[in-house]
Amino acid sequence: MDSKRRQLITGFSLVGAGVLLNACRPNSGPSGSATNENTKNEGPKTGEEENVEVTATEDLMREHGILRRALLVYQESVVKLRQDAASVPPDALEKVANLFRVFGEDYHEKKLEETFIFPTVRSAPGMAGAYVDVLLQQHVRGREITDYVLSITKADRIASNSVEPLAKALESFVRMYEHHAAIEDTVIFPAWKAVTGEAQLDDLGEKFEEIEHEQFGDDGFEAALKRMEEIENSLGLSNLAMFTAPSPPK
Ligand SMILES: [Fe+2]
Ligand SMILES: [Fe+2]
Repeated sequence: MDSKRRQLITGFSLVGAGVLLNACRPNSGPSGSATNENTKNEGPKTGEEENVEVTATEDLMREHGILRRALLVYQESVVKLRQDAASVPPDALEKVANLFRVFGEDYHEKKLEETFIFPTVRSAPGMAGAYVDVLLQQHVRGREITDYVLSITKADRIASNSVEPLAKALESFVRMYEHHAAIEDTVIFPAWKAVTGEAQLDDLGEKFEEIEHEQFGDDGFEAALKRMEEIENSLGLSNLAMFTAPSPPK
């Protein structure tokens, strides 16, 4: 277990990526007591979704959901880094960056979007194709930023001269990827769906499942979700109510 955990922290191999996603137990972050509570509050158990059929576009969009939760951790970390950098455990950020690498970049982006979605959309009628080059550039930039986050968070503490550059890199990554995913959800995936046709969509839905299985074994989305929940717990970010906005001025 320990060696696999180490792999998660240091390795980017796609072989056995499911093991990588699964490898880290709900380990003891700074606020360990939140773990049990979160498990109780998480609503439907993640495993219950396994037998529910998921369409290809729903699959892509729920993957964005995982990535958005990672972005939220980055966003909250930016605020904490600027207030008190010592309160941000580098290994938590490293885990988020690793999840983004394995689940977001190597799987969602490379295996699905760049292989199936973008080539189809590029030649589709309408405006969607015009986005493809920028979306690809953003995948590349995202990987550069993930490399950077991984390099900075390797150490036991974030060096003081890296705090603001890291905060800025995370901030710009969140800004880019929120917009990126929103364009994919609202323009790219609908365009892809429109030109693909129902029967082929069903086949591709199954194909996506196969790829997910190949990459991660039985636990692709579910393991990534569980992993994200563990990270949120460890940082005290698992209580949705804490994000309810205050009342506006009267
Ligand atoms: Fe993308
Ligand atoms: Fe995407």
